Amino acid sequence: MNAIITEGLTKRYKDKTAVDSLNLSIDEGELFALLGVNGAGKTTTIRMLTCLSTPSAGHAKVFGHDVMAEPDEVKRLVGISTQDTAVAENLTVYENLKFMAGVYMSEEKGKEAEKSISDRIENIIKMFNLDEVRNKKAKTLSGGWKRKLSIAMALIGEPKILFLDEPTLGLDVLARRELWKIIEDLKSKVTIILTTHYMEEAEALADRIAVMISGKIVEIGTMDELEERTGKKGLEEVFVEIAGRN
Ligand SMILES: Nc1ncnc2c1ncn2[C@@H]1O[C@H](COP(=O)(O)OP(=O)(O)O)[C@@H](O)[C@H]1O
Ligand SMILES: [Mg+2]
Repeated sequence: MNAIITEGLTKRYKDKTAVDSLNLSIDEGELFALLGVNGAGKTTTIRMLTCLSTPSAGHAKVFGHDVMAEPDEVKRLVGISTQDTAVAENLTVYENLKFMAGVYMSEEKGKEAEKSISDRIENIIKMFNLDEVRNKKAKTLSGGWKRKLSIAMALIGEPKILFLDEPTLGLDVLARRELWKIIEDLKSKVTIILTTHYMEEAEALADRIAVMISGKIVEIGTMDELEERTGKKGLEEVFVEIAGRN
């Protein structure tokens, strides 16, 4: 099944086309990496696919639901973690997770619902090794911990698609490696759309890679396909080759 399909998806700002007639399909279960220099249109694409921004033209469907016609359905299916993520600085790790769980499960009421919410939070805490910081306020966490919390929060609504917009930006090598491991573990459970500037990250994690330049996807494929098409070895060389000819 297609997790995402876009047709002519476009976002224009006054004098700028940020995303230009994007035609894309991403399969359920895929880890899809979107690469491109700053300003290429990656974040704008993610914002349209998560109903945070309205397309200027074209269509996008998330598991068959149109982002413009059925935003409530789409929002229920997606989780997003970005650089300026919505972690509440004055709440503890646990309180942040509980708050997010409440947002997603506001319709469920009663003792049973409370039990299922706390079970879900405990599962997430375990999965992300957050136990040692569970009672710490978010503002006291290092960048790596905060990023883990942000991804944990994005997962608490049990999304079918997880959007990770530069999840390892600014992290030290060890924190980055730890996040990679978490993302690897998530791969089998959820469809992931990842943006990154770290080529080794995309190379290590992605099933397919797309290179975006000035709002357009100019190359897309598996690592092997991109190497074959460009005649280069390694994603960094591939990327430079693609960027150079566009
Ligand atoms: N709200 C906005 N208003 C005007 N221009 C915007 C806005 N958001 C993004 N842009 C422009 O759209 C282009 C794509 O931005 P963005 O999607 O953030 O790229 P990326 O995430 O690949 O760095 C950039 O030129 C950026 O300046
Ligand atoms: Mg961006």
